[in-house]
Amino acid sequence: MRSAILSAAFAAGLLAATAAQAQQAAPVPGPIPGSVLAATCSGCHGQAGRSIAEIPPINGRTEQQLLSALLDFKNDRRPATMMNRHAKGFSDDELAAIAREISANWR
Ligand code: HEC
Repeated sequence: MRSAILSAAFAAGLLAATAAQAQQAAPVPGPIPGSVLAATCSGCHGQAGRSIAEIPPINGRTEQQLLSALLDFKNDRRPATMMNRHAKGFSDDELAAIAREISANWR
């Protein structure tokens, strides 16, 4: 009985050690820069947000305009086909970084 408990404890320790090693092998990345996050917008909104098709251009907006639109999409306060789903993929901090990046650099 005692050895069964000991070997169970040993197995649990082994599992914990393996999990710790797995975490070391794949470190969680730090905050992703706004320039990288905003690159996900170009596919639809065009180079520097100057889309020419049916998707609205998003260049030349203020940080506040962009952030409030993104938060409205994320929280289903604004009807959307795509943007609601896209905005839900980011934390509020990431949306703020995207709004900062686009307002500063997409002209
Ligand atoms: C899959 C295509 C797609 C991607 C990717 C995408 N958008 Fe959009 N965006 C749209 C569409 C379509 C609309 C119009 C609203 C709707 O139907 O969702 C829109 C609308 C917007 C609007 C409102 C513009 C206006 O004048 O009303 C903003 C702001 C916006 N997007 C910002 C972004 C940002 C920032 C990103 C990157 C994080 C992004 N979008 C990524 C398709 C996309």
